[in-house]
Amino acid sequence: MTNEEFDKTLDGYKELIDEKIRSIIAETSYASEFKEVLEYALFPGGKRLRPVLMLACHGMFSEIDDGALRYACGLEILHSYSLIHDDMPCMDNDLMRRGKPSVHAAYGEGKALLAGDALMDIAYRLLGEPMASGAVSPFWALSRLCGDDGLIGGQYSDLYEEIDTLDKLLAMYKKKTGALIHLSCLSGYAFGNNFDYEQYKKYAKILDEIWTIDEIGGRKGGDFQAVDRFGAAFGAAFQLYDDITEYIDGEKSDGTSVMNFVDLDEAKRMLNSKLNDAAVALKRTRTKNVDFLRMLLNKFIIL
Ligand code: IPE
Ligand code: IPE
Ligand code: MG
Repeated sequence: MTNEEFDKTLDGYKELIDEKIRSIIAETSYASEFKEVLEYALFPGGKRLRPVLMLACHGMFSEIDDGALRYACGLEILHSYSLIHDDMPCMDNDLMRRGKPSVHAAYGEGKALLAGDALMDIAYRLLGEPMASGAVSPFWALSRLCGDDGLIGGQYSDLYEEIDTLDKLLAMYKKKTGALIHLSCLSGYAFGNNFDYEQYKKYAKILDEIWTIDEIGGRKGGDFQAVDRFGAAFGAAFQLYDDITEYIDGEKSDGTSVMNFVDLDEAKRMLNSKLNDAAVALKRTRTKNVDFLRMLLNKFIIL
């Protein structure tokens, strides 16, 4: 895949996602003034990383259908709710988000709180829809990775627990940021393979352990484990990438940053090693259709 083809594929995903999110918000019965707040939070949006990962992981195995696209939009809408709340005065108290005033700065705290709630509600509506095969969507893994074993658990640690070692920081990152990215990849696999709720339950350990490379393609082998490991490694890499770029750009961090624990060279080494883990996992999938994800990973390498 050439760089141009990569850009075209990425733009294509983003267009699909944006168009679908617009129609989903338009279809709600909220007052038009409130829909405006929701649209403000969602557009022009950021990198759309989570739905792109979901669609790309799905696209490795089968054609993307409308159900998968709606699920991918659910992930982005859920991510956006978490950002609205994260910026509020009672949390990170950030006045800017995605290059413009954050939602509470533009519309006030009451509407921001409700906008976050509304987006979470819309997200779960989408994420709970059955797959085209009729199989139940990966709702069980979803609620864990967005809640106690993931995003909310991690946000709680970030705000209220003492993060005084690198290990504690990485554990908090795994929940706060890694879990949703991990989930995006896993659910892409689920939609590409009609992997249902019962199968998720069987694989419950996915949330606690990472498959070793020997297990992938070995005794327990398979694409599921490879995508699982890919998602976990990319999820771990992403917050490191965010911290390092923030540091290089001279932005002030909220206090928690890998740069408080290691120097720049070590932070880059940690990042690139996680990205390498993700690349190795990709190679272990039986599908040959991995070019887009490999090139996406490369965009996060910092030399
Ligand atoms: C921001 O995530 C919050 C983190 C978990 C670091 P992104 O960097 O993916 O935000 P957008 O969606 O591109 O704005
Ligand atoms: C936001 O994390 C993560 C979630 C909303 C789950 P941060 O506070 O580190 O990210 P920014 O700096 O606000 O984007
Ligand atoms: Mg924040």
